[in-house]
Amino acid sequence: MEEELQSRGRRDILFEQAELYRKLENISVEVLSKYNYQEIRPPTFEDEKLFKRTIGETTDIVEKQMYTFTDKKGRRLALRPEGTAGVVRAYIENSLGKITSVTKLFYLGQMFRYERPQKGRYREFYQIGAEYFGNAHPVADVEILLLNMEIFEKAGLKDKVELYINSLGCKDCRQKYRAELLKSINSRSKDLCKDCHNRMEKNPLRVLDCKHDRDKFKDLPAIENYLCDGCKEHFDGVQSLLDSGDCKYKVDRYLVRGLDYYTRTVFEIKSTEKLGAQDAVSAGGRYDTLVEQLGGESVPACGFAIGVDRTIELMEKTGQKVKKVFIAIAGLTGNLGLAGQAIKIARLLRKNDIFTEGPYPDKSLKAQMRLSNSLNSSWTVIIGEEEMNKNTVILKDMTGQSQEEIPLDNLVADLLGR
Ligand code: HAM
Repeated sequence: MEEELQSRGRRDILFEQAELYRKLENISVEVLSKYNYQEIRPPTFEDEKLFKRTIGETTDIVEKQMYTFTDKKGRRLALRPEGTAGVVRAYIENSLGKITSVTKLFYLGQMFRYERPQKGRYREFYQIGAEYFGNAHPVADVEILLLNMEIFEKAGLKDKVELYINSLGCKDCRQKYRAELLKSINSRSKDLCKDCHNRMEKNPLRVLDCKHDRDKFKDLPAIENYLCDGCKEHFDGVQSLLDSGDCKYKVDRYLVRGLDYYTRTVFEIKSTEKLGAQDAVSAGGRYDTLVEQLGGESVPACGFAIGVDRTIELMEKTGQKVKKVFIAIAGLTGNLGLAGQAIKIARLLRKNDIFTEGPYPDKSLKAQMRLSNSLNSSWTVIIGEEEMNKNTVILKDMTGQSQEEIPLDNLVADLLGR
């Protein structure tokens, strides 16, 4: 294929990996529905100004990473680099706050950022996100966190992720803190990398997020000492309720975010295993002033977005794959009786949510086994005349290569229990 037609910097998600994406999406939707979140599908592109005014003019995302374009009418648009801005716009535009005083929404889909592609960082990536409007109490922050952790738990990642939280306070606390931080950073500006020199001018809190200098700044003032009474009480409330919810967390006093809309709680869920240069598999926090800032009423809100691609990489690292059964027929090719029995078994397995492939009555048993192998099946169920008459099957484990004959009546329970 001509080079310019190839998907440079973009990816095709194929087969088993796509199945894992679907698996994580299904788990997430199930958990989100249990917590009473409803789906919203905002457009993938919005007016460029929406992102500038929410994420912040001086953030890396807006300054360097947006895919922007001008349409035929000369409007400046941008592919969404994240989901919160569009959801807040939709919340205001559809007057969702007038329907109920609390609104809980979730979304899933592609986001776009012009970043240097590497493992765990893509220009088109997937997020599963949730936004909770209308509750200023720490219970809302904690609901968001518990729900987020439950998704990881259901995805088999309970021991593979850790929750880090911090509070960025409100506008007032931040103003005081910003001044102190700037003084302290200024006194050692020679230690700063080039990016941080820029950040210092425009957005000094972002210096704390520097990947190069983080260790050098361990003794910088921490925001916790600048929180006003209200913000301190809120952050204490979040921690106490996380304890009640039996949710483990660590306070990271220097945790800041790459988006400007946050107030009070911010958090990141990090993988305990290295995932390329990036280890945050989910992130979010509270943004109590954003709805009003975009022209809505003053409505508190909080939310999160799971980085699906990184989470899938973590699931793959833990050896997770969608388990499939291949049904093979041992007997004369084209035997309709055996094909019928295979179809009955396949229907039974699929009814029990077991991924099942086959049968292929026109292929030899050897060719069927080869196909089963190349399809990465976890097990092959083999039936011949003898097994059909005895109402049994041969169950072959494709990883260990062991096989045993079991009663057909036990097959579903046996596979589900493995
Ligand atoms: P964010 O930290 O920018 O927050 O992104 C959330 C997650 O998306 C990250 O932790 C990461 O897992 C994933 N992610 C971000 N950029 C990339 C990329 N280039 N490639 C692969 N994965 C990526 C937000 O987007 C906020 N909207 C979260 C939020 C929702 N806050 C409140 N509500």
